[in-house]
Amino acid sequence: MSFPKVNPTNTKAWEQLTAHYSETQHLKMQDQFVEDPDRAHRYAIRWNDFYIDYSKNRINDTTLSLLLALADEVGLKEAIEAQFNGEHINETEDRAVGHTALRDFAHLKPEVADTLKKIKGFTDSVIEGKWKGYTGKSIETIVNIGIGGSDLGPDMVCEALKYYQNHLEVRFVSNVDGDHTQEQLKGLNPETTLFIIVSKTFTTQETLTNANTIRDWFLKSASEEDIAQHFVAVSTNLEAVSNFGIAPQNIFPMWDWVGGRFSLWSAVGLSIACSVGYAHFESLLRGAHEMDLHFRNTAFENNIPVVLALISVWYNNFHNAESECIVPYSQYLNKLVAYLQQGIMESNGKSVDRNGDPIDYQTGTIVWGSTGTNAQHAFFQLIHQGTKLIPTDFVGFSKALHGNQDHQNKLMANMIAQTEALLQGTHGTEVENTFKVFEGNKPTNTLLIDTLTPKSLGSLIAMYEHKLFVQGVVWNIYSYDQWGVELGKKLAKGTLQAIESEDISHMNNASTQNLLKRLS
Ligand code: F6P
Repeated sequence: MSFPKVNPTNTKAWEQLTAHYSETQHLKMQDQFVEDPDRAHRYAIRWNDFYIDYSKNRINDTTLSLLLALADEVGLKEAIEAQFNGEHINETEDRAVGHTALRDFAHLKPEVADTLKKIKGFTDSVIEGKWKGYTGKSIETIVNIGIGGSDLGPDMVCEALKYYQNHLEVRFVSNVDGDHTQEQLKGLNPETTLFIIVSKTFTTQETLTNANTIRDWFLKSASEEDIAQHFVAVSTNLEAVSNFGIAPQNIFPMWDWVGGRFSLWSAVGLSIACSVGYAHFESLLRGAHEMDLHFRNTAFENNIPVVLALISVWYNNFHNAESECIVPYSQYLNKLVAYLQQGIMESNGKSVDRNGDPIDYQTGTIVWGSTGTNAQHAFFQLIHQGTKLIPTDFVGFSKALHGNQDHQNKLMANMIAQTEALLQGTHGTEVENTFKVFEGNKPTNTLLIDTLTPKSLGSLIAMYEHKLFVQGVVWNIYSYDQWGVELGKKLAKGTLQAIESEDISHMNNASTQNLLKRLS
């Protein structure tokens, strides 16, 4: 089986969707709800402890069947199988895409099983206080040094699972901004701190700069031999890691078939396992695997990532929506959007198709958002009354972790009221003046999950991973490479040389030269 390479705009379904859009663009969801009393039930998916309500979208049965026909015509089923079967679907890097294999406990590759064992042994000994620092004290703080996929996932999950966190404090150093590094080092005791250097390539400027600065900081109090008790690394580049001085037993492998932005399930998630313990880390992986099974085995019309992806394509390519908003109603998820921005935008920000041809239709959605209810007091005005169409995902949990029922009732009341206001607007009611008119008819999905647990979080993250993959398949792009970040990295090297040598003569752009002059 091979990975399909179908231009979606040449399909019959695309042509029909274009005509369907012209016919239905003026329909109001408010009227659709009146006409079909069963709409809320028909456009919902129940799965495990998830309830996905997608009824508040500008769709009808024809829209859905045409979108499903599009999925068939672009070969979505074959593409999903190609990914799960380990084919080299990341063709531009000639790699398989295997993050789902990291959480398939019934079929773990030996190297994955060994690494999980190593993660368990290591985290147990750190958490139980058996892993000692160079003065014989137990570890109290974990510092993850990494950037992009080697930072955002672990940081987001540690924050999301704070309720389950043990006594260890976890910090993240990512930016090459030295002020950030110094702030993260503030108050740290080298005797009780363990540093995890995470870099798939071990060539990333930010991570290596931070790792070297932090090693120098550590060596002000300790000696070279003490590094073994305080620095571990996660990487595919074993040689570079050992050149850095990390003891071989302190190296956790990862593999080129795991993309950075999909790597929190591997040893990249070591800080997560330290923070919440191995058992919770495994639950996170198992939750993701359950979503993998749902995605792989469920008919497309009831398949959560597929339905959400196709509805998003409908807005992106037919309604010309420029962006999508995600609003989790849980402060624990306050780093989810930044994490998903890398996953979604690094994957689908492409303008060349899988045949190598330039694309003349819209691809990657712009994703943004932040937590509710805070967001209601910030950017919601624009979603309600602005001129742009912004489909929004609301993500909430039926039960609060700490109880606090009064807060929980208010939190959920706000979430559900927002989706109602966005749908209904002031439609059919008297309004004093035009400034107070809410058009309504604004699309939303509501993802109501029972409780925020490691397992449900794993499923949620995997849901968005699969959603972005489906969209990449439809758009006929390679979602698993990221060549677009390379040029900036390359130019930064030359620019750094110019700054360090105070010689800007080889910088040929006048604006760049002027900016560099102003640095001194
Ligand atoms: O610059 C983008 C990127 O390559 C991401 O895809 C990746 O997650 C990040 O840099 C970090 O890379 P590494 O883990 O190799 O340091």
